[in-house]
Amino acid sequence: MADILKISSEGPLVGRCGVPGDKSISHRAVIFGSIAEGSSHIRNFLDGHDCRATMNIMRAMGVRIDEISSTRLEVHGVGLDGLKEPNDVLDCDNSGTTMRLLSGLLAGQEFVSILSGTAQIRGRPMARIVDPLRTMGAQIFGRQNGRYAPLTIIPSRLSAIEYEMPVASAQVKSCLLLAGLYAHGLTVVHQPGPARDHTERMLKSMGAPVTALGNTTHSERPHSPLNPLNILVPGDISSAAFLLVGASALPDSNLTIVDVGVNATRTGIVDALSEMGARIRRRERPLQGGEPVSDLIVSGGGLRGLEFGGSQIVTMIDELPVLAVAATQAEGRTVVRDAQELRVKETDRIATTVSELKKMGARIQETADGFIVDGPTPLKGTTVDSHGDHRLAMALAVAAVIAGGETTIHKAHVTADSFPGFESTLRALNVNVQELDWASDDE
Ligand code: S3P
Repeated sequence: MADILKISSEGPLVGRCGVPGDKSISHRAVIFGSIAEGSSHIRNFLDGHDCRATMNIMRAMGVRIDEISSTRLEVHGVGLDGLKEPNDVLDCDNSGTTMRLLSGLLAGQEFVSILSGTAQIRGRPMARIVDPLRTMGAQIFGRQNGRYAPLTIIPSRLSAIEYEMPVASAQVKSCLLLAGLYAHGLTVVHQPGPARDHTERMLKSMGAPVTALGNTTHSERPHSPLNPLNILVPGDISSAAFLLVGASALPDSNLTIVDVGVNATRTGIVDALSEMGARIRRRERPLQGGEPVSDLIVSGGGLRGLEFGGSQIVTMIDELPVLAVAATQAEGRTVVRDAQELRVKETDRIATTVSELKKMGARIQETADGFIVDGPTPLKGTTVDSHGDHRLAMALAVAAVIAGGETTIHKAHVTADSFPGFESTLRALNVNVQELDWASDDE
């Protein structure tokens, strides 16, 4: 993993590639496999920093996880009540999914636990899980009265609640459904929009009493042990998004991305690019782990600006930085609104996306809840910074592929948080990518 990437490219993206396993599904497979009874087999696990943090925490609570290879795991589940008190603080690294999902699981355990991580994650909002967990009876404490990690969780008896989520967040929903497995009564969670539903699908497939109807989900204490998983994790559509945008924006591109998860709660980017004029075909593949999968075949050119907002935003929340890159190449104005959640991701992604793309010549303005881009603009290579945000680093790499000249991206090692092999994937598509360490850079 390099600190610095230097990227230049001439010409379209042509070829065929895959992307690593889905991050959201990989986290869940390890967590849920750990509380199943028996051994779960997970293939195409995402070997990235965030999912490794989850894996290390489950190990710290006594779960044996064998790494058959870096993407193939055997998780020896200890059952719903088999986790052991960890003898140290649990390190979530930079992973919001790890911290928020595990808070729900840990609230129902009979031991004390403390969740912490990087400075970035200790600055992300936790009241969204702490408040409803406290209403369930959890004793959970954090800095500023539970607004920020480290979070300390002390054993208590949980009671089910009916909860109306103020924001459509799969992490909050999953946290509460997990706590619901340990609570007395039926936990009901209403979400304002269709946040990703991998938790519901996977827990249900394991025999847990978790149900979903429209935007309402329920969970309760299972009467029998959870069955172990045997799952092939689909390719991550959030990683495929970088390649989809690169190929959509560069005329004459023709790219096939194989075996991508196309759960409808995640495909907003495919719909958005198609509405903007990209030609994206889906070739359906067999289900993987109960999730729909397709090869995505994309050819480039002819994008036009559009407006996006409302419930479409949650289905492409992680893809909005790279959608901004597509918008720089579209004819006319693109407006993204209702995306204020971007401000509390790994970075304030509205501010960081706008400031870095401006350096490359984009005509982009920040708004309170999104951004406005006027296009098309010829981007120019320059020096930019990922701000330690993996999705911004890769969005900037796509901008670099589209731009004239060479772009230098600082703090680029973070691509491995969610897309190990990103640089080699670009190289295989004839993009010129140089990886440098700080010491070897002469700027
Ligand atoms: C995720 C949910 C989303 C997403 C994140 C992964 C998950 O976050 O942005 O990358 O795996 O549940 P929110 O729940 O905060 O929207």
